[in-house]
Amino acid sequence: MNILETRNIQVAYGQTQILWGMDMQAKRGKVTTIMGRNGVGKTTFLRTIMGLLRTKDPILFNGEEIQKRSTYKRAKKGIGYVPQGREIISKLTVYENILIGTESRSDSVRSFDEDEIYGMFPILKDFRNRLGGNLSGGQQQQLAIARALVGKPDLLILDEPTEGIQPSITLEIAGVLNQLVEHGMSILLVEQKLDFARLLSDYYYIMDRGKVVRHADKDTIDFDELKTYLSV
Ligand SMILES: Nc1ncnc2c1ncn2[C@@H]1O[C@H](COP(=O)(O)OP(=O)(O)O)[C@@H](O)[C@H]1O
Ligand SMILES: [Mg+2]
Repeated sequence: MNILETRNIQVAYGQTQILWGMDMQAKRGKVTTIMGRNGVGKTTFLRTIMGLLRTKDPILFNGEEIQKRSTYKRAKKGIGYVPQGREIISKLTVYENILIGTESRSDSVRSFDEDEIYGMFPILKDFRNRLGGNLSGGQQQQLAIARALVGKPDLLILDEPTEGIQPSITLEIAGVLNQLVEHGMSILLVEQKLDFARLLSDYYYIMDRGKVVRHADKDTIDFDELKTYLSV
């Protein structure tokens, strides 16, 4: 069963069309990865899934059309989003930044299990009362993932989580994401770093100029060809 499916998604910024019929499917409990070079429309596609950009074309989450729903409703239905660039609130503490994520819970609980979150990201316990703006890029990335997780998503969407982050932290993040998948999480990952993608991915989509040009599972994908779509 697909947790997410999009059908022929078209999106434009004003007169400039960016997505030219995005078709993709993400399987429940798996990691689906979209790869492609800068500017092909990866972030535009994720923002459309979240409702931050609008389309009339079908977006199905757990088999239900959500394209008319607000971003807030989509989050409440169980889609967690870790945006490119992380979007941490600098002037709030680490704890307060995480708490924001509870707004996406489907119940009205506005707290989270600190032990569970800090078990995954110990650095956030040490820095609990520091301002978000004082964290390193890698620490902010972990914070952004924690913020998404406390919303209790079924599907976690991450947009280039390794961008500008040192390798040791990317490995830690891969470990956490793999553990989440072991516990049933579904992940939609956008990534440009193939080494990182290969640590996680079950299925690959290659994007170029606003559409999918190739898709295959991890055992049949042609990585040499994939690389040609990542280099400039
Ligand atoms: N807010 C915007 N207004 C107009 N054009 C945009 C906007 N955001 C992105 N674009 C353009 O849309 C294209 C796709 O961008 P994006 O989705 O960010 O690509 P990617 O995430 O694959 O790097 C690029 O040409 C970019 O310049
Ligand atoms: Mg992007």
